[in-house]
Amino acid sequence: MQNFQDARPSSAGAGLRVRDLTVTFGRGRKTFNVIEDLNFEVAAGETLGLVGESGSGKSMTAAALMGLLPWGGKVSKGSVQLGETDITRLTNAALRTARGREIGMIFQNPLSSLNPSLTIVQQIAEPYRLYFGASPTAAREHALSLLQEVGVPDASQRLDDYPHQFSGGMRQRVMIAMALACKPRLLIADEPTTALDVINQAQILRLIQRLQKEQGMAVIFITHDLSLVAEYAQKVMVLYAGKTVEQGPAEAFFTAPRHPYSQALLHAIPRLVNSEERLTDIDGLPPRPQEFPVGCRFAERCPAMTPECLTAYPPRSGDDHHFYCIHPVGGAA
Ligand SMILES: Nc1ncnc2c1ncn2[C@@H]1O[C@H](COP(=O)(O)OP(=O)(O)OP(=O)(O)O)[C@@H](O)[C@H]1O
Ligand SMILES: [Mg+2]
Repeated sequence: MQNFQDARPSSAGAGLRVRDLTVTFGRGRKTFNVIEDLNFEVAAGETLGLVGESGSGKSMTAAALMGLLPWGGKVSKGSVQLGETDITRLTNAALRTARGREIGMIFQNPLSSLNPSLTIVQQIAEPYRLYFGASPTAAREHALSLLQEVGVPDASQRLDDYPHQFSGGMRQRVMIAMALACKPRLLIADEPTTALDVINQAQILRLIQRLQKEQGMAVIFITHDLSLVAEYAQKVMVLYAGKTVEQGPAEAFFTAPRHPYSQALLHAIPRLVNSEERLTDIDGLPPRPQEFPVGCRFAERCPAMTPECLTAYPPRSGDDHHFYCIHPVGGAA
């Protein structure tokens, strides 16, 4: 076990490197993996868009990176290297420090992640005071400027309010301010703008982008909205039933997706170029983690499926832009 602060390298801004990340639930013969063998990197200043339909394992990946897995779940394999430190090997105390200081998280559900018994200023300013040694006045000022930046009206009047006094959209802004307060090295944003309308969403995403540039944050942006990924991410990773099916530079992914599931996802959103076109859902449902098949997990819903797809998980094809499919869109590599 390492102590995070001891292990902290001087190169603030160094990125994230995840290897073979696997999360397992259950015990004995009843174990099942909800995410399996994920490999990805996010450099300082870079944004990775993590996409996939509901239940594919996006939030579980975030939870594993934060060391905040639900009860019964554990990282059974792999490493999560942030700078010089492997997060999966930290003590609980060091992990708490890492979460407060090195990793900021905007959770999918803003209400569950704010402490109802602490005022807004306590929640934003306290970690900043603690980790940066700021005076109470300076920490309060910092909290105020963050709240103003995320667009909380009359922020100076609202610092001493409690979360329940805020609307859903405002709570989401408060949570974003909290996640950014300690200038984290890694920001994980899980559907960060779902409670906001389109104009506010753009404002928040631009703020994250600006801070990312200024501070060299690595960002993992989890969303159902591929048009946002196209706009904000440099890299894309597509999850299906707990596995990566395709990964690569955003441009290559959007211009030439190779996995039939990626293509289906791209067709399932209002077209990036022609917003008039109707949304078409993908027929069928993904398998449950307890019932993942040995072959390609998308096979049952895939228009290109052949019996071979059912016998073994497809090997990786490609380098920087890679995918796991034996009948890729655009023909074999
Ligand atoms: N506490 C838990 N115990 C066991 N399995 C769980 C638990 N919570 C979630 N799962 C399972 O883990 C898988 C991944 O869930 P996850 O929440 O990561 O999906 P997601 O991609 O974030 O979906 P969404 O888009 O709906 O947020 C799902 O199959 C889900 O049923
Ligand atoms: Mg989720």
